[in-house]
Amino acid sequence: MLTVIPDLLTPAQLTALRETIDAADWIDGNATSGAQSALAKRNRQLPEDSDAARAGGAVVLDALAASPLFVAAALPLKVFPPLFNRYGEGDGFASHVDNAVRIRRGSDFRIRSDLSATLFLSDPESYDGGELIVQTQFGEQSVKLTAGQMVLYPASSLHRVAPVTRGERIASFFWIQSMVRDTDARAMLFDLDTAIQSTAARLGQDDPEIVRLTGVYHNLLRRWAEL
Ligand code: NI
Repeated sequence: MLTVIPDLLTPAQLTALRETIDAADWIDGNATSGAQSALAKRNRQLPEDSDAARAGGAVVLDALAASPLFVAAALPLKVFPPLFNRYGEGDGFASHVDNAVRIRRGSDFRIRSDLSATLFLSDPESYDGGELIVQTQFGEQSVKLTAGQMVLYPASSLHRVAPVTRGERIASFFWIQSMVRDTDARAMLFDLDTAIQSTAARLGQDDPEIVRLTGVYHNLLRRWAEL
């Protein structure tokens, strides 16, 4: 399941974030790659431990915490500190699956990557190519979003970034360990949550059936959540 989080960043957050990262020094993106993806990847990244990556990452983490849609869809337990990459003309990233376990260099922070996230930070009109292409059970899905919008997809998916043929694609990317490891279970909870919320908007939160369905949601989450 691919989930788009529209307007994750406010225009003011987007502007501040771009000012922070645009002024920083970028390095070869293969600094964070495993041996296999180093062959496939061609881009630049902000160093993980740079001030700009930390400051930019804090903006993204604040926005995630303020997004009910992100919380409902990801049921996050841990979020890897957001990283930033840029693909110029001729850059791209061939098909791969992200590493299952991510360790933050120089710390004991580690997560199992259940979900991968790409937060688009460039105006889509400003570059050609650069689509995120995710292999799903229904075939390939191509994603290119407005700046400030984010897509979540299962970290187990094969995916690639199409070569950029004009301009520059700037994005934040990171991983989430979910309280609910199983993708299908998480998708069902999200579907149930969404249906309850829209029905509650019509009937009221205190409607007896809404109260019961909300109980079912929490009891399923209690059954499936690992903390
Ligand atoms: Ni990837």
